Amino acid sequence: MKEQPIGIFDSGVGGLTVAHAIKQILPGESLIYFGDTAHLPYGDKSAESIRYYSQRITEFLLEHNSKVVLIACNSASASAFDSLKKEFEGKTILIDVINPVVNYLSTRNFNKIGVIGTKRTISSGTYEQKIKQKSPLTTVISLATPLLVPMIEEGFIFDDISNAIIRTYLTNESLSGIQALILGCTHYPIIKNQISKIFNFNIEVIDSARIVSMILREVLDKNNLLNDTGNVKDQFFISDYTTYFEKIARMFFEGEINLKKADIWS
Ligand code: DGL
Repeated sequence: MKEQPIGIFDSGVGGLTVAHAIKQILPGESLIYFGDTAHLPYGDKSAESIRYYSQRITEFLLEHNSKVVLIACNSASASAFDSLKKEFEGKTILIDVINPVVNYLSTRNFNKIGVIGTKRTISSGTYEQKIKQKSPLTTVISLATPLLVPMIEEGFIFDDISNAIIRTYLTNESLSGIQALILGCTHYPIIKNQISKIFNFNIEVIDSARIVSMILREVLDKNNLLNDTGNVKDQFFISDYTTYFEKIARMFFEGEINLKKADIWS
């Protein structure tokens, strides 16, 4: 069991930010990553569709012997975490990306925080509800920033186009006076520096990658599942081939990666 991989999924490259943080914190673990590029972006899809995709992908990751399944996508965490927990109870350990961030926030004393994410994540109200339960005095401003995922997936990252889009969204009046900003989409850490710059590096910009990796370490440790065998093998699957996925994956994981197309939708 210990040698089995950690299953991770997202709609595309976003979950690679989480996968990358896991490799830094848990270098002895093997990963099996699934990017559902055929259905990207999830942020525009209905909650029902995302639940259906997430269920099938979780099955795929379990068929490939994942010892844990990490939902490295906020849109799927907001729409499908509860239904996946019911469906796969007793079959695997499931971890989402929203609860760990909300728990981290409850250890900080922010008066006003912002959350940016896809239309699906923001319209679900999940962050706001969960934060309010733990920190009722915190004001939470939620803002959908739907152009950011297609922009990143198309490779517009450090140029005039990306700067103009990021600036237009983040100078929104409602965000003035925030002390922290949650990057409520796992794609956004790729542009974290440009986002921090808009706020003159004066606020805490919180991304889930590191926070979730620490929780994963705790969970593996508690269940005696940490891989101490020294055998590590990472695998990457996508549901539709995109050169950009490969490029970004190589950037994160330096060099050759084992990337395959998995036809789980046909
Ligand atoms: N990276 C995902 C998220 O955290 C999905 C974004 C999308 O596909 O729209 O929400």
